[in-house]
Amino acid sequence: MRGHRAGTTAGMTAPALPPTTAALPSGAAIPLLGFGTWQLTDRAATDATASALAVGYRHVDTATMYRNEREVGAAVRDSGLARDEVFVTTKLPPDQAGPARSTLEQSLELLGLDHVDLWLIHWPPPADKGLELWRAFLQAQDDGLVRDVGVSNYSLEGLDALTQATGVTPAVNQIKWSPLRFDAALLAGHHDRGVVVEGYSGLKGGTMEQPVVTKIATRIGCSPAQVLVRWQLDHGVVAIPKSANESRIRENADVGAVTLTPEDMAALDALTSS
Ligand SMILES: NC(=O)c1ccc[n+]([C@@H]2O[C@H](COP(=O)([O-])OP(=O)(O)OC[C@H]3O[C@@H](n4cnc5c(N)ncnc54)[C@H](OP(=O)(O)O)[C@@H]3O)[C@@H](O)[C@H]2O)c1
Repeated sequence: MRGHRAGTTAGMTAPALPPTTAALPSGAAIPLLGFGTWQLTDRAATDATASALAVGYRHVDTATMYRNEREVGAAVRDSGLARDEVFVTTKLPPDQAGPARSTLEQSLELLGLDHVDLWLIHWPPPADKGLELWRAFLQAQDDGLVRDVGVSNYSLEGLDALTQATGVTPAVNQIKWSPLRFDAALLAGHHDRGVVVEGYSGLKGGTMEQPVVTKIATRIGCSPAQVLVRWQLDHGVVAIPKSANESRIRENADVGAVTLTPEDMAALDALTSS
């Protein structure tokens, strides 16, 4: 584990970022807190990503499908941070399963980077295309265009099929994840396979309005979003909250001082059956 602490930029006090990463097969470390960029486009994508990097996020999540790689890449390149200080993920839409390599090359060109830290298959392709695509991912890794390779929206069986065919297990599975979807067996299944879970849309679906969440937030003196980000990090799950708003971008990262008790964790986990 190693820590990331924000520098202080003009007029901004660095929030207390959670100092945790997860190890990936390449030897790289993925920061458990990242910045989601879905639905951020044009100038807003650059501005929000720049704000996130300024307050200390060191991991950004984009995708071919988000149509914002150029804008996200500009913020990364203009941040003043060294390339190896920012973990960059992009994703391949599997309907591009034919020209996977050229789609990656286009992502790199738009991002203005010579490699990404993590390349994900955005969702499972049709069964007859899955292995060919995974092999293209492994080739891109061998060629140094991506450091680690993974998937998104895969089942444990889907992960196993890739491992059995190639001997290489996806480093990461990015899945929809919140207390309303908590599944201890699914988490353990990823852990047993050495697959890092990245959770998305954790603030959506009414989770922030759940009384269990708002009560914990009131007691601790933080926001419901902060409770949800902290819950995810305390499970060792990568959290990638998205916001277009500078103060919420900061708030979502400022969870270093948010302490959840074992009882809080259990109450949040139990929301899945509510
Ligand atoms: N692999 C996949 O299939 C997949 C699917 C979906 C998402 N993702 C990734 O995961 C990231 C996160 O998921 P998401 O964007 O769906 O949802 P999310 O980050 O859980 O929630 C975003 C929503 O919450 C609001 N919000 C953010 N912080 C808040 C706060 N502190 N208080 C109140 N509201 C707040 C945002 O509004 P404002 O912007 O107005 O603050 C936005 O409406 C995406 O951006 C994307 O990178 C991946």
